[in-house]
Amino acid sequence: MRIRPRRLRINPSIRSLVEETQINSSDLIYPVFIKDKLKEPEQINSMPDIFRHNIESLIRELEPLHNKGLKAIALFPVISEDLKSLNAEEAYNPEGLTQKTIRILKQEFPNLLIVTDIALDPYTSHGHDGIIHNGKIDNDKTVEILAKMALVQAEAGADIVAPSDMMDGRVESIRYNLESNNFKDTLIMSYTAKYASCLYGPFRDALNVSVIKSETDQSFPKDKKTYQMNPANSKEALKELALDISEGADIVMVKPASWYLDIIKDFKQNSMLPIAAYQVSGEYSMIQAAAEKNYIDLDSAMHESLTAIKRSGADMILSYFAKKYLMQI
Ligand code: PBG
Repeated sequence: MRIRPRRLRINPSIRSLVEETQINSSDLIYPVFIKDKLKEPEQINSMPDIFRHNIESLIRELEPLHNKGLKAIALFPVISEDLKSLNAEEAYNPEGLTQKTIRILKQEFPNLLIVTDIALDPYTSHGHDGIIHNGKIDNDKTVEILAKMALVQAEAGADIVAPSDMMDGRVESIRYNLESNNFKDTLIMSYTAKYASCLYGPFRDALNVSVIKSETDQSFPKDKKTYQMNPANSKEALKELALDISEGADIVMVKPASWYLDIIKDFKQNSMLPIAAYQVSGEYSMIQAAAEKNYIDLDSAMHESLTAIKRSGADMILSYFAKKYLMQI
């Protein structure tokens, strides 16, 4: 035999010499949950080792990770029921939970990038990402609020604003509002191809949001399928990609990650922008649950899943495994 591929696998040294894909600490973005008036951090039932934090416990959690090289977090607020409303006014309150948290974190960790979520679901009483008018999600009214929301987050010190709602035209409106108010350096990480996925289940548990009101009140849409994408489609993701590029996004995202590696690869081949992939709550919790039952090995599954996402073309990965991964290197 002239060609023996196994020669390149014969020992750990040669294997690492020819290894194509590695996960660096600077590839990871750690999503974190914050909640007001919390005495102790609360463990999230469906997400082992992930907590709803108060500001002190969040700082304690982030300090060692930042020291290990973590460069960015994604901030998700858990909003108390009495602040939720049909028009989501709390979303653009300059003194709201997200804004207060950004200011404190920026003092503690000036070099830690803060990615903020732009979507109304934590703030609406029905849990939808949009304002409802005559039983339908009103795209343009929602986008107006998203643009205001981006501005208060930028004013508070957010480095990257990340619209995760899937309304049409939101990147352009957010960009326009930021530019007009002189926030020229605030980055937009757009959730470009966000699919209507079952994998967000544990996240909705973490935020205490579910589109429950729709079960009792027929005037609310019962799912997010009129704005999030159909998992069966890939050409549509390229259309969203073209739009986000033309509207001024800096970073484009595919979400979820593991079941959508083909979309990540499509993005890689069809754009010059950096690509983010979100290994969402359900991907994390499925691996954790299988490992708890000893069906798979947790560390190996964590490494393999992150490697697959990066190999497919992601430049950065939002993952709840960021904590575990970083504490091992
Ligand atoms: C809200 C939002 C969701 C996630 C991130 N931002 C949930 C949803 O769209 O219902 C999901 C993240 C995860 O599952 O980890 N717009």
